[in-house]
Amino acid sequence: MLKFVFSWLIAAYVVLAADVHVWWDVSFQSVSRDGFSTHLATVVNGRLPIPPVYVDEGDVLFLHVQNSLPHPLSIHAHGLFQRNTTHYDGTGMVTECGIPPGYNFTYKIHTEEQTGMFWLHGHHEFEIPDGLRVPFIIRKRKSLWEVDEDILITLEDWMSMEFIERTQLLDTVPLGSLGHNYPSVLINGISGNLTEPIRFVPGKKYRLRIISMSSTYWFRFRIPGHQMHIIEADGIDSEPAAVDGLDMCPGQRYSVLVDALDTAKFNFNINVTFFADFVERTPNINPRYYHIPLEYRQNAPIKQFPLIEDAQVKWSSDFGLVPQDKQEILEPIDRRIVLDEKEHIPDIGLPDYAFGNYAFNHSTNVPALLTALSMGDLAFDPRVYGPQANAQVVRYMENIEIVFNNTNGRDHSFHLHGHAFQVVESGCAVQNRTLCSDKTKYSLKWPMRRDTVTLPMYHYLKIRFKADNPGTFMGQCHQEQHLYKGLAFVLIEAPDKLQKNLKVPRIIMDHCHILGRKTQGNAAGNWGFNMTGLPQAKLVVNDT
Ligand SMILES: *[C@@H]1O[C@H](CO)[C@@H](O)[C@H](O)[C@H]1NC(C)=O
Ligand SMILES: *[C@@H]1O[C@H](CO)[C@@H](O)[C@H](O)[C@H]1NC(C)=O
Ligand SMILES: *[C@@H]1O[C@H](CO)[C@@H](O)[C@H](O)[C@H]1NC(C)=O
Ligand SMILES: *[C@@H]1O[C@H](CO)[C@@H](O)[C@H](O)[C@H]1NC(C)=O
Ligand SMILES: *[C@@H]1O[C@H](CO)[C@@H](O)[C@H](O)[C@H]1NC(C)=O
Ligand SMILES: *[C@@H]1O[C@H](CO)[C@@H](O)[C@H](O)[C@H]1NC(C)=O
Ligand SMILES: *[C@@H]1O[C@H](CO)[C@@H](O)[C@H](O)[C@H]1NC(C)=O
Ligand SMILES: *[C@@H]1O[C@H](CO)[C@@H](O)[C@H](O)[C@H]1NC(C)=O
Repeated sequence: MLKFVFSWLIAAYVVLAADVHVWWDVSFQSVSRDGFSTHLATVVNGRLPIPPVYVDEGDVLFLHVQNSLPHPLSIHAHGLFQRNTTHYDGTGMVTECGIPPGYNFTYKIHTEEQTGMFWLHGHHEFEIPDGLRVPFIIRKRKSLWEVDEDILITLEDWMSMEFIERTQLLDTVPLGSLGHNYPSVLINGISGNLTEPIRFVPGKKYRLRIISMSSTYWFRFRIPGHQMHIIEADGIDSEPAAVDGLDMCPGQRYSVLVDALDTAKFNFNINVTFFADFVERTPNINPRYYHIPLEYRQNAPIKQFPLIEDAQVKWSSDFGLVPQDKQEILEPIDRRIVLDEKEHIPDIGLPDYAFGNYAFNHSTNVPALLTALSMGDLAFDPRVYGPQANAQVVRYMENIEIVFNNTNGRDHSFHLHGHAFQVVESGCAVQNRTLCSDKTKYSLKWPMRRDTVTLPMYHYLKIRFKADNPGTFMGQCHQEQHLYKGLAFVLIEAPDKLQKNLKVPRIIMDHCHILGRKTQGNAAGNWGFNMTGLPQAKLVVNDT
């Protein structure tokens, strides 16, 4: 009987799974989103905000992308494992050379293994700050939680200039000399406090899906008078965890359950805080506060609450969650990778960053994936990917621990492609108790898995994952300027398996040739360790 039911379920699932086709024409258009500045932005089908993409578990998303931008484009599905499809991970000069201007490409994204909240964004020439950021929701066929309504809330920062224009300008003057150009906030695509109300009906139960599509700043999110229960973080179901507020670095997502109150006597203001630790705390500047009206009844009075200090609030924490499947901590460790976060502030320009010695730069002649596929046994030698790829090579099914050591005074948002990693430990990376005096935090039984995590200033952080997904995956800071300045590495996972099993579509090579890149050999496009023709990598040494 059980067996019968089981096979019936599988049959129903197979029948239900569908191909979902989404067509995107990506171009530049002059827009105003914050109410005062106008600049070029990356729009889809002439629109911003770009409509979210919803699919059901098991569907295959065919994302047909026409590149009408003047530079190469690739699209990354943030949080998707891309098992056996690393070539659809959409990372410029890691998994492809980019779609040339005027050309198109179809990303096939399988969803049988994952559900929850993800996002699609540009990943070639730093398109996120200019608008190419889109929620991607994979709904479960059979939800664990009965709710009356599912509500999506997107949080974004918005600069008053195009990213590259702003970054290059800041790069020609001493750090901080232009003052701080604080960005604006977009909530559900609409400028800050002008956003549309969220509507609750008394007695109903809601799932709020909250995503930080920020390019730089952090968000905090609180609903006064209501309790939130986290049930998902970055596409991983968690045991319900009661919190007062969500503390989100760029790229993180949460689903929370919220029970509406029983009466419609009052409306509320959802409290959104927008801040960055690299901007001095100054009243009315940093942090900045916004509200989303939570409406039970039109024109009902807004319930007032005494101000609550951040320190009194129970915030979401990467260490406070338990994954619903109770997957145990990975042990023993087969390979430990220590990555020192390096930072150097030059006299002129923005800081340089690196995980290790060299700033990541996608200036190689061959994307890392095509090097891994064409270099035979040498694909296990990190040197063939070029110093600017900062390659970390791991073997199939090893248990990997990465130790990030951040001895500098800036938080980062770390994201690894291709995996949800266990967050296992964090503690002080410096001896100076003025800079760091926290107790070490551990999560040693059932660590929460996620794909994006805060790497706190003056702290180390340990994450673990199993190298069960052959591919070439970027590990990166999700603050666009830090990525631009080099805070990334490339994980080369089981290159022998890739060489044996992976068939990369011909069109990826065609696009490389059109863009004047090469499709085999080391990072320079030569054989062995001959790096003739490879641009020089930038060495980054910590200031101390
Ligand atoms: C991925 O490829 C491997 C090797 O070809 C195969 O054994 C496995 O079933 C594939 N997995 C999926 C999810 O396609
Ligand atoms: C995509 O590009 C191919 C070849 O470059 C072309 O044949 C095809 O018509 C294009 N598709 C669309 C929808 O523009
Ligand atoms: C938005 O509204 C909040 C009150 O909810 C206020 O403190 C804040 O200054 C407003 N923000 C802006 C940018 O006007
Ligand atoms: C909004 O939240 C911040 C913490 O992120 C807090 O400092 C501020 O007092 C809150 N505002 C209100 C009106 O509760
Ligand atoms: C981090 O770097 C500091 C300074 O080099 C060093 O003292 C410390 O042992 C390192 N910590 C880890 C966990 O590697
Ligand atoms: C610790 O850090 C503080 C703040 O940067 C600095 O003033 C102090 O000199 C440092 N102490 C030591 C022992 O290095
Ligand atoms: C990346 O490398 C190219 C080629 O060497 C160089 O022109 C560019 O300045 C580098 N980018 C950064 C941010 O260092
Ligand atoms: C290195 O590669 C270049 C082409 O990029 C070639 O001209 C040169 O002969 C090679 N050097 C050696 C020692 O093979």
